[in-house]
Amino acid sequence: MKEREHFGSRKAVIYAMAGSAIGLGNIWRFPYMVGEHGGAVFVLIYIVATLLVSLPVFIAEITLGRRSRTSSFGAMSKMDPRHKNRWKWVGLMSVFIPLFILCYYSVIGGWSLYYLIKSCAFDFVKGSPEAVNGLFGSFISSVWMPVWMHLLFLAVCAWIVARGVKSGIERFSRLTIPALFVLIVLLIVYSVSLPGASAGVKYLLKPDFSEFNVKTFVYAMGQSFFSLSLGMGAIVTYGSYVKSDENLVVSSAGTAIFDLLFAVLAGFAIMPAVFAAGIEPGAGPGLIFQSVPFIFSSMGAKWPVVSAIVSILFFLAIVVAAMTSVISLIEVGVAFLHERFGMARPKACALVFVLCGAVGVVCSLSFGPLSGIQIVGKNIFDLFDWFASNVLLLLMAFTVVVFVGFVMKREDVRDEITNGGRKTLNAKLFGGIYFLIKWVAPISVLAIFVTNFIL
Ligand code: PHE
Repeated sequence: MKEREHFGSRKAVIYAMAGSAIGLGNIWRFPYMVGEHGGAVFVLIYIVATLLVSLPVFIAEITLGRRSRTSSFGAMSKMDPRHKNRWKWVGLMSVFIPLFILCYYSVIGGWSLYYLIKSCAFDFVKGSPEAVNGLFGSFISSVWMPVWMHLLFLAVCAWIVARGVKSGIERFSRLTIPALFVLIVLLIVYSVSLPGASAGVKYLLKPDFSEFNVKTFVYAMGQSFFSLSLGMGAIVTYGSYVKSDENLVVSSAGTAIFDLLFAVLAGFAIMPAVFAAGIEPGAGPGLIFQSVPFIFSSMGAKWPVVSAIVSILFFLAIVVAAMTSVISLIEVGVAFLHERFGMARPKACALVFVLCGAVGVVCSLSFGPLSGIQIVGKNIFDLFDWFASNVLLLLMAFTVVVFVGFVMKREDVRDEITNGGRKTLNAKLFGGIYFLIKWVAPISVLAIFVTNFIL
C-alpha cells in the first residue's frame, strides 16, 4: 500500500492548520458576531469556550485522524468496524457540512474580491467616507455583480483544486498570512486613533452583563468551532497526515492560540472604526465591508498613497486567506467523490462548482431580490450561516468527542496523545485533557445546544 503523505515538520503542521483555520471566520465573521451579540461579553465567552471546549475538540479530532490514518469519511468506521454502518452516516455528514458552508462562504469570498477590485481602482481613497459607506448597501442589493463575483471566486478556487496547484497556493498563503497580521496591526494603530474610536475599544474590553444570555453562548461556541474549522472533518483529515512523532497537544494549542489572537486583533482593527464611522455594531455580515473602507477613505485624505497601497494589500490578503479556506472546503467533497466513486478530479471539481455555485447564487440574492424571504427574522444567507454553525457544527463536534471519549479505548487515546508515553508533559496532562474531551466538551456542547432550542 502506498504510504500516506505526511506533513514535513511541526511548522508545516501548524501552518497548514492555521491556513485552514484563519480565514473569513476571523476577519469577517468574528467582528460582526461580536457586534451582534453584546461586545466584550461575547469576546470573553468566546475565549473561554475556545480554551475549554474547542481546544479539547481540536485535540480529539486530530487524535482520531492520526490514529485512523483515514479521511473524515472513513475514520470512525475504521476505528469501530463493528458499527461501520452507523459511522458511515456520520462520515457522510462530515462531507456534507463543508459543502454546505462552501455555498455561502464563497459569496463572502466574492464580496472580498469585489472590494479588492475597488481598492485597485483607488475607489476607497478617492471617495468620501460617506460615499464609501453607502457603496456596500447598493452593491449587495444589486442582482448581478455579487452573483458574478461569487461565481468567479468559486470558479478560480475550483480550478486551483482541479489543477492540483494547491501547494503553490499554500506557499503563497505562508506569505500572505504573516502579511495580513502586520496589516491588521497597522490598521489597529490607525483605527484607534480615529476620533470617536475609544467607544469601540471600550465596547471590546468592558463587558456589559445585561447583554448576556444563552444565545450568546451558542453563537460564541459556534463561532469558535467555525473559526477553528472544527465539526466538519477538516481537522480529522489533516490529523491523518500528521507524523507519528509529532506532539499533538502543542500543534493543537499553537493553532488555537494563533487563531484566537487573529480574531481578537481583527476585532480591535474593526470595532473602533465602526464606532468612529457611526456604523451600528450589530449591522450584520456587512460590517467589515462598511468599516474598513471607511478607514481607508479617512486615511486617504491624509496619506493617499499609503492608504491606496494598504487597502490593496489588505483586500488581497483577505481574498487569499478566504481562498485557502475555500480550497480546503472544496477538497473534502472532491476527495470523497474521487475516492468513493472514482470520479476524476476535474469532473468532481466541476460538479462541486455547479452545485455549490447554484445554491450560493440563492444565498447571494437573499440580500437583494430575495430579501423578502425571511424565516424567524433571518434571510436565506443568515439561515445557512446559522444552521451550519449553531446546529451542524455543534452536533458534529459533539459526535467526535463522544466517539473519542467513549468508543475509542482510553489506552489508545493516551497512546496517541502522549506518543506512546514519550511526551512526558502530555502524559502528566493526559488525565485533564481526557476529562475535558470525555466530559466537559460533550456536556457543554449538548447543554448549550439544547437550552438554545428550549429557550
Ligand atoms: N475556519 C475557516 C475560517 O475561519 C473556515 C473553514 C472551515 C475553512 C472549515 C476550512 C474548513 O474562515
